[in-house]
Amino acid sequence: MTRRIGILTGGGDAPGLNAVIRAFVKTAKLRWDWRILGVEDSFNGLFSEPRRVHELDLVSCKGLLHRGGTFLGTTNRGDPFAFPQPDGSKRDITADLVAGFVELGLEGLVVIGGDGTQAIGLRLMRERGIPVVGVPKTIDNDLSATDYTFGFQSAVEVATEALDRLHTTAESHDRVMFLEVMGRDAGHIALSAGIAGGADIILLPEVPWDPERVAAKIRGRQSIGRPFSIVVVAEGALPVGCPTDLDERRKRLKSGGGAAAIAMANIEGRVDAEMRSTVLGHLQRGGSPVAFDRVLATRFGVAAADLVAEHRWGEMVRLSNGHVTSVPIEEAIATYRLVDIDGELVRTARATGIELGG
Ligand code: F6P
Repeated sequence: MTRRIGILTGGGDAPGLNAVIRAFVKTAKLRWDWRILGVEDSFNGLFSEPRRVHELDLVSCKGLLHRGGTFLGTTNRGDPFAFPQPDGSKRDITADLVAGFVELGLEGLVVIGGDGTQAIGLRLMRERGIPVVGVPKTIDNDLSATDYTFGFQSAVEVATEALDRLHTTAESHDRVMFLEVMGRDAGHIALSAGIAGGADIILLPEVPWDPERVAAKIRGRQSIGRPFSIVVVAEGALPVGCPTDLDERRKRLKSGGGAAAIAMANIEGRVDAEMRSTVLGHLQRGGSPVAFDRVLATRFGVAAADLVAEHRWGEMVRLSNGHVTSVPIEEAIATYRLVDIDGELVRTARATGIELGG
């Protein structure tokens, strides 16, 4: 009997999602001629009435490789175990989801998403009997099980280009420019883009930063005839003395107007220079994936098809020491990867004179 597999994208989008879907569908069709159903908007297409799924074939994959976003749609507010209701309450709607899964004749799901989506997939497998294979995704690159997630390099590229642009205007006006980049609680985008974009200062969530050290770096540059400075601020970075608890930290950043605004406010009184701040925001998530992400996404799509072919449900594809392998989803989501503050990349930044503020 022809196998029928569903595929969906969950959580925030990342450049490369469409490339994974394309590679999975191509492999499944060309090698085994399975039927593939693309589920709309994360798990939502399975439980909504009528069901929202598309039959995917080689024709539906045309033109997808370089297209950003996800043509299946996604959401990061759709946990079916606690699905938001119009009155503000939450309801477990997994019985409807299982009904949709059975009605569509599906054998299993390929779940492309970050830690939150993978955790939901694993729970659906364990508690509701829906077999899943995982594909890791996030621009933040904070999943410890994989060397890289696709989308990260594309985000770094956008942030680097933004820094190049800020450089020329900073230099013209002798200004201090703050650029806030994404990454949630990890500083991977800030660190890589900061190094690539020639930042003078990089502020990371992993290093509570001392305003006086940052100000001294800017003043030091002024004193040697470099009156402008570029400061990259990870969205989770806060000065010393601020909360270390993640929820508290997020609350503080939201109420304080964002990490770059907080950084600028802390430096303004200490340095005699004009300052401006820019929040790069979702520009980092939009647009086409760079070549590295297209290749990685394609490798992950093919590897996910191989896992399904071998009935290795409950596993997630990953890149390990340059090779695509797999790991139990449970293990993959157990630890969150922060920037290693004693690692080689941080040493590289420090060795080239970049101030981290701590
Ligand atoms: O996890 C990816 C990410 O882009 C983070 O870097 C960022 O904090 C968050 O998602 C933004 O989420 P939203 O799209 O819901 O604003």
